[in-house]
Amino acid sequence: MSCRIVVLISGSGSNLQSLIDASQQQQLGGGSIVAVISNKAEAGGLQRAQRAGIATACIKHQDFDDRDSFDAALREEIDRHQPDLVILAGFMRILTSGFVRHYLGRLLNIHPSLLPKYPGLHTHQRALDAGDSEAGATVHFVTEELDGGPAIIQAKIPIIAGDDAATLATKVLSKEHQIYPLAARWFAEGRLSLTASKATLDGQVLPQHGVPFDGN
Ligand code: GAR
Repeated sequence: MSCRIVVLISGSGSNLQSLIDASQQQQLGGGSIVAVISNKAEAGGLQRAQRAGIATACIKHQDFDDRDSFDAALREEIDRHQPDLVILAGFMRILTSGFVRHYLGRLLNIHPSLLPKYPGLHTHQRALDAGDSEAGATVHFVTEELDGGPAIIQAKIPIIAGDDAATLATKVLSKEHQIYPLAARWFAEGRLSLTASKATLDGQVLPQHGVPFDGN
């Protein structure tokens, strides 16, 4: 089965790189990344895509008067590539309800916290401030609730003495690079779907935190 994937980024694109690597190693279950779109011209991920021979585009949010017109332009650019799956990989814009509804069931995000804890920004600092013993990342279906859609897979790391937001970000990112290609693969293989507002894998409704990732 072939699955056309469009990836949206705003930054360095290390998650994008993990998806590119997985695709090149035939680990995306027939998924292929057909375009990478950034809202920032300086996003390092654009060069990663170009190096891999993937089409790129930049739609700068500052060029638009409001969220609706930005999202409409973004949607037009995405849809030119006729995606089966749209992946947010460090895409740091809040999307309108209309945009989310248009891609409902084929729009994934990765968030650097153990959702439902800490939606929004500064997740690692918030985990530290709360005295948590664990941090992590969650891949989820995007719904109209910010970082609130059904979880697909979640990876944890222990918080140890001496950790700060930067060390946690590095450790969590390396987990992100393992779980995002896996979730994309499940989707491309037709095993993962959003059904009646629940994430299902092989027809089974996933638990609240998604599949617990047990890799190293
Ligand atoms: C990742 O940690 C991702 O989880 C986070 O941005 C980083 C992007 O890194 N996303 C969010 O915070 C979304 N709210 P990358 O550009 O190296 O993939």
